[in-house]
Amino acid sequence: MNADPIDVRRFVGAEISEHLDALATLRIAIFRAFPYLYDGDRAYEETYLRRYVRTPGSVALMAFASDGRVVGASTGAPLVAEPAETRVPFEAAGEALDDIFFCGESLVEPAYRGRGIYRRFLQGREAFARESGFTVCTFCAVDRPLDHPARPYDYESLDAIWEAFGYRKRPNLVARYAWKDCGDTHQSEKPMTFWTKTLGPR
Ligand SMILES: CC(C)(COP(=O)(O)OP(=O)(O)OC[C@H]1O[C@@H](n2cnc3c(N)ncnc32)[C@H](O)[C@@H]1OP(=O)(O)O)[C@@H](O)C(=O)NCCC(=O)NCCS
Repeated sequence: MNADPIDVRRFVGAEISEHLDALATLRIAIFRAFPYLYDGDRAYEETYLRRYVRTPGSVALMAFASDGRVVGASTGAPLVAEPAETRVPFEAAGEALDDIFFCGESLVEPAYRGRGIYRRFLQGREAFARESGFTVCTFCAVDRPLDHPARPYDYESLDAIWEAFGYRKRPNLVARYAWKDCGDTHQSEKPMTFWTKTLGPR
């Protein structure tokens, strides 16, 4: 494990602009692994990430090593500002979208894992959501079959961590997102199940 001290800083809306490259680099490198298996490309990343810059209520928490290099990142935005495929499951379930803050990716470089950066991300996004007047945080995770050929034999899902942080899996809230898996030639749709947490007072 790397013992370098890590500085986690918050960037809001247009301030995220200067970190789009770093975010894209982390997403493409880290989401290649199971369960995401994302065969990312920079053109798509530019469009996908640019919406955070355009959304005034969005946030990026960036983790910097002591030499200034970005070694982790975590994002979020009001659910109402998310694309239709993210909003529709909540609309169909009759949820109050205005109350909900959508947490996007959390990424930590392998050499910096296991030293609490993700904990800081989860807590930091919840604090931002509360300050912005939201009462619920949500995120979604891809569902892969247990016998998926790319599943590493020692893979452990993050479900227990999310439960420990107060999130509840919501099997009635499922979105379908398309991307190209590593090794495939075409995009395919993947189900992603949401988790939610009601934010208590600080
Ligand atoms: C998931 C991820 C962000 C965790 O980052 P991290 O900085 O190593 O996590 P932390 O050190 O803050 O750990 C937070 C808690 O989760 C636990 N944990 C972290 N990763 C874990 C894993 N892969 N399996 C089991 N437990 C894990 C830690 O033990 C810790 O619990 P504790 O506070 O009770 O000790 C990182 O492994 C990663 O980037 N993974 C790939 C991308 C991903 O899956 N992101 C999440 C969904 S978008």
